Amino acid sequence: MAEPTNSKPRVLSGIQPSGNLTIGNYLGALKQWVEVQSDYDCFYCVVDLHAITAEQDPDELRRKTRESAAIYIAAGINPEVSTVFVQSHVPAHSELAWMLTCMAPLGWLNRMTQFKDKSARQAQESIGAGLLNYPSLMAADILLYHAELVPVGDDQRQHLEFTRDLAQRFNHLYGETFTLPSVMTPKAGARVMGLDNPTAKMSKSEESENHAVYLLDDLSRARKKIMRAVTDSHREIRFSDERERAGVNNLLTIYQAVTGESRAAIESHFAGKGYGDLKRDVADCVVATLEPLQGRYNELMNEAGYLDSVLKVGREKAAAIAEDTLKLAQERIGFLAPS
Ligand code: TRP
Repeated sequence: MAEPTNSKPRVLSGIQPSGNLTIGNYLGALKQWVEVQSDYDCFYCVVDLHAITAEQDPDELRRKTRESAAIYIAAGINPEVSTVFVQSHVPAHSELAWMLTCMAPLGWLNRMTQFKDKSARQAQESIGAGLLNYPSLMAADILLYHAELVPVGDDQRQHLEFTRDLAQRFNHLYGETFTLPSVMTPKAGARVMGLDNPTAKMSKSEESENHAVYLLDDLSRARKKIMRAVTDSHREIRFSDERERAGVNNLLTIYQAVTGESRAAIESHFAGKGYGDLKRDVADCVVATLEPLQGRYNELMNEAGYLDSVLKVGREKAAAIAEDTLKLAQERIGFLAPS
């Protein structure tokens, strides 16, 4: 009997295994991944091919790749419901990425703000070509699975537009091959900013000590970082777009994302209280989220063979779909099929 096909719309997303996953990754991505997994056919990958667009230490990359996959599961991704896999385990990603790279106009690539930002910090001559071609690889990730929806933050919207444009170009030149994906706008996706610099997005590869709370941070350390978060010299605790008040707004945003309460309820909860109270409450709710996540993480890392078996099943499920799409694309573009 044929296996029942999953008729739910497909979702695909990924996070790079560079640096340590932060509460920003959790509140901005992982939490939504978990919430949508029963309504969609979800593919969540650890994008190690993207990670090497910056220099990585080999042992560290291997360790982070496993750690990231384990965090996906500890955060609530159920590997019996969703497909969890490592990008480099499915060679079709690299193969389709090359085909797409060849079709991607330099003009489009040069316009990508992520490329402009990242390359601005390096000497022109030494920027790896992978950084420029990064969006074509991301397009391959998405198009291989005919993903209809891609949950990503605002900073990745441009890459998704690029993916659609490239898919359209391929379809136009070679015939309908790829599904055009859309951004999945999360219900309550939070954009968490750096605790030490609340006008920049919280980053997992920022070195400074009080910048980010990592999901695997020791709980007392996590609490300390929140207590040290930058605020301002006002008193009133309310949501605000003012640059000056970005620190308090960030703490409130974290509180809202964790508790799911409305802005009005949160503002009235904090009415008449001080920044110390705000930080304490934010720290309490963050710690209450991290504690069970870390418990599950430790448990599954201690179960010999468990993570590897999840990644093996994930690879098989992902490869079956990706290889079909790759084959079709290769045939369309004119590659001689091997006999
Ligand atoms: N570029 C994404 C980021 O940095 C990560 C990513 C790679 C991704 N491939 C993807 C996200 C495919 C969604 C779908 O956040």
